[in-house]
Amino acid sequence: MQHRGVTVWFTGLSGSGKTTISQALEAKLRAAGAKLEVLDGDIVRTNLTKGLGFSKEDRDENIRRIGFVSHLLTRNGVIVLVSAISPYREVRDQVRARIGDFVEVYANTPVEVCEQRDVKGLYKKARSGEIKNFTGISDPYEEPLNPEVNCETANETLDESVNKVMSKLEELGYLS
Ligand code: PPS
Ligand code: MG
Repeated sequence: MQHRGVTVWFTGLSGSGKTTISQALEAKLRAAGAKLEVLDGDIVRTNLTKGLGFSKEDRDENIRRIGFVSHLLTRNGVIVLVSAISPYREVRDQVRARIGDFVEVYANTPVEVCEQRDVKGLYKKARSGEIKNFTGISDPYEEPLNPEVNCETANETLDESVNKVMSKLEELGYLS
């Protein structure tokens, strides 16, 4: 498969499906022979951004570092799949402007649905106050105003979400 470098940036609440969709997309792109790399907030926070917390300053720093690495890879022809809550619009848009080849995917899942899923039990802890500053419960999330792809995971299948992203990448000329 021929492709150009691009950062596919998944943003959305915890439990919204960012990691799930990006993993399914990864499998599909790898099978087609794409050169790709995955940067997932949960994993990046154990190395590249270790020590950062969840204040606005730390989240923004986390996103800037992820964006920096994504830029290096993207300009060398890699497809980069980023999954990070990235709750603040301003820094998301800064990263977009820096990278240029940037496709924003909004894992657009209502907080009620994320909380019902509560895959990691974090919403329960956020409700009890054991976790402070939890996105969507006690910390802000600024929705993307104009994402390239909008995945309403409560109303569509995983396959549908993945195909939406694939179609957009094709439409924008990143895949051929
Ligand atoms: S951010 O806001 O973009 O810097 O966050 P990110 O690097 O994506 O890390 C989110 C994951 O950290 C866990 N976690 C929290 N999320 C939100 N708020 C608080 N306070 C918090 N504390 C820990 C959680 O597992 C997130 O992973 P996902 O995959 O989003 O569920
Ligand atoms: Mg995740």
